[in-house]
Amino acid sequence: MSRFPFPRYPNGWFQVAYSDEIAPGDVARLSYFGKELVAFRGESGELRVLDAYCPHLGAHLAVGGKVEGDTLRCPFHGWRFDGQGQCVEVPYAKRIPPKSSTPCWPVVERNGLVLVWHHAEGKAPQWEIPTLPEYQNEAWTDYTRLRWKIRSHNQEMAENAVDRAHFHYVHGTLEVPESKVEIDGPYLRMVQKSKLGTPRGPIEGQIASTNYGMGFGHTRFTGIVETLLIGCVAPIDDEYLDVRFSFTVKKLGNADVMRGVGKALIADIEKQMGEDMPIWENKRYIAKPLLCDADGPVPAFRRWCSQFYTWPEGSAPAATEAAA
Ligand code: FES
Ligand SMILES: [Fe+2]
Repeated sequence: MSRFPFPRYPNGWFQVAYSDEIAPGDVARLSYFGKELVAFRGESGELRVLDAYCPHLGAHLAVGGKVEGDTLRCPFHGWRFDGQGQCVEVPYAKRIPPKSSTPCWPVVERNGLVLVWHHAEGKAPQWEIPTLPEYQNEAWTDYTRLRWKIRSHNQEMAENAVDRAHFHYVHGTLEVPESKVEIDGPYLRMVQKSKLGTPRGPIEGQIASTNYGMGFGHTRFTGIVETLLIGCVAPIDDEYLDVRFSFTVKKLGNADVMRGVGKALIADIEKQMGEDMPIWENKRYIAKPLLCDADGPVPAFRRWCSQFYTWPEGSAPAATEAAA
């Protein structure tokens, strides 16, 4: 029995690598959505993602597969596949058998991240991942990258943001932060005012985040130091999530002070993740939660999430609290 009364793999964009991890000619093995995938970067620089098992006799294309031009050669019998997963050569046969292909995944590279589009029914991408002005901008630092493997579900982790009360009880923030949530199709925007402690006393800060489906979101912290956090959560299998946070900090005035404050903010988020993890990994999902008047907009958040699921035949979303 699944721990969650909704599909394990939501539809959307999910980060599976960083661009700089896969150079031209490289082949990478990826495990996401309960599947084995192969990513390869052709010599022209184009990055492609295919289902990993060769349709001939099942070799794993990422284990010994070789890039040739913009194609990938299987290590087992040398069949060669193009970026769409179509077989373009069987070196020892006169004819390529019909329907010789392996499924191909929509992929984008944005802001130094590699994202693939997952859709349970194979539908084309329904929204785009934005290009963020902070990336590769002289005025901003290179990414600080953090990564976790967490036994949870995308929806459960994301719910954290609208769960106001936990900030005090789990993270020890002094006040329960007030936040404004705005839902717009696949986008969920949130603005939160917060008091940030500094050596010069508390400063009013603002945290503004936008989620693009359940796999990709960015958060801008303003106040003492400007920081951008790109948060990506990709389901690996029925149990685990692959979580990558990429931070960039604006280079302002005194570089040492800026770096110190930026580091403190990143350390604080890493600490918060450590505090949330044991809760996420061991909790269960309550479809009809017992909410009180000071809880955040949990029902609205859950309705937003429900659009990213393809429900298997016969499993009605009414089983969740969509009506709440
Ligand atoms: S298994 Fe790939 S070519 Fe035979
Ligand atoms: Fe949290």
